[in-house]
Amino acid sequence: MTQKIIIDTDPGIDDAMAILFAEAHPDIELLALTTVFGNATIENGTNNALYLKQKFNCNYDVAQGADKPLTRPPVGPTVIVHGETGFGHLHAGPMDLDKVDARPAYQYIIDQLKAHPGEITLVAVGPLTNLSLALQAEPQITQWVKQVVIMGGAFGENGHRGNVTPFAEANIHDDPHAADSVFTADWPVIIIGLDVTEESFFSADYLEQLKDDAGEAGRFLHEVSRYYLEFYSDKLGLAGCHVHDPSAVAYVINPALFTLRNGPVRVVLDGCAEGMTLQKTDTRLHGHDEWEHAPKQQVAIQVNDTALLELYRHTLVEYGKS
Ligand code: RIB
Ligand code: CA
Repeated sequence: MTQKIIIDTDPGIDDAMAILFAEAHPDIELLALTTVFGNATIENGTNNALYLKQKFNCNYDVAQGADKPLTRPPVGPTVIVHGETGFGHLHAGPMDLDKVDARPAYQYIIDQLKAHPGEITLVAVGPLTNLSLALQAEPQITQWVKQVVIMGGAFGENGHRGNVTPFAEANIHDDPHAADSVFTADWPVIIIGLDVTEESFFSADYLEQLKDDAGEAGRFLHEVSRYYLEFYSDKLGLAGCHVHDPSAVAYVINPALFTLRNGPVRVVLDGCAEGMTLQKTDTRLHGHDEWEHAPKQQVAIQVNDTALLELYRHTLVEYGKS
């Protein structure tokens, strides 16, 4: 049975990898991209979402979302990782903004969840501002969503603690207040953080093979990932890139790829550990416990990276034949 999803995204090179993965997989019905600031400005992110829709003839809706975090000062686009406009060296020309849904992203999310109760998975691969705004405007969405799958955070598993700071992952650091409200809401959240996304690796050779074997999608991903791989090579000394946003889509397609751990999750809201994510896994009683009343959520702590890479390649290669 196909699964309806909405991807809340800041496109973004690895966002594009995730979006085409979802578009390509026969078990996924990609209803919409809701955009959020992050890797790029909101205008460039929305433009990139429209560009992919046109280039790959997709049916998804595009709704534009938040241009800044709820409370903290904006960090600004991640030009060093994703380039001036979000797609590396590729600058998508201005797209037709008439194709953007008239509603803000948070309202689009509310309306879709209400129209399809229990059916839609929200896959959030950028800062969590749109999801938080949707929760504020319509708390009942917690009853209507099927599940919320998030690429974000880092819990120290497998030695992974942070990428933008020593103890924070980018999506959570971009809007820690939004993330804390999403993790403490009473809905089922699965967190695919650096603990697992940095355990999977698209080598330069793997992306080269996709270029040869996965048709236009493979060629496009190879082209946009050039800039990304330059960052990984220059700054991290790696010949390839971690598999961040596609891992969240992989979870929706095949949850068995991941091992999950249960427990309430909170976010450090300011100070030197701003954006740090912490899961309480013990049952000890404490005099002060900010986790006490938060619902238990699932954090991914292990991944079958070989199977994930095979799934991704197989999906894109088959898509390339269509
Ligand atoms: O930390 C990785 C995440 O930050 C990914 O979602 C990437 O696209 C950026 O948004
Ligand atoms: Ca992203």
